[in-house]
Amino acid sequence: MRVPEIVEKLWEKYGLEENVRKHCIAVAEMALKIAESAERRGYRVDKEAVLLGALLHDIGRAITHDPFKHFLKSAEILKAEGLDERIVKIAERHFSAGISAEEAKKLGLPEKDYLPESLEEKIVSFADNITFSSTVRDFDSFLRRLDKIDSENPQLRWFTDATRERAIKMKLEMEEISGMRF
Ligand SMILES: [Fe+2]
Repeated sequence: MRVPEIVEKLWEKYGLEENVRKHCIAVAEMALKIAESAERRGYRVDKEAVLLGALLHDIGRAITHDPFKHFLKSAEILKAEGLDERIVKIAERHFSAGISAEEAKKLGLPEKDYLPESLEEKIVSFADNITFSSTVRDFDSFLRRLDKIDSENPQLRWFTDATRERAIKMKLEMEEISGMRF
């Protein structure tokens, strides 16, 4: 994939690690596949937003790899850099299958919804869920990762259970719009 100059420049400016860049490219390729399939089936998808959002969703990892903080940093950076609100929201709402305001409060995050709403936000979040490092796997692999989190962090069970439910809904919606199977 040809990475747009604006993305390369931001990756360089913030010193995003090579493995994170590769991950973002893999997510972007998967996300575009879903977007193109959905378009062929008559859905309107902003592919530019999907591309830029996917390539920049993890730029906050240049600051922190904390799973519960990096997406806030991504949104902060993209906002400060003047990127379109559509792209900022994709980054802010990409984590796992999203976080509700109530969950955010319990997790010690600013109390607001971080749930993917637009098709573009859902496509990037979902593509990220099934992409491990730079390898696209399947939805079962994502569920197995949640199981692993449960065994390692049983205190997060309330969150992983809610995530499972949301992630399954998102998978079904992605299959419905794209005609693909995950
Ligand atoms: Fe992320």
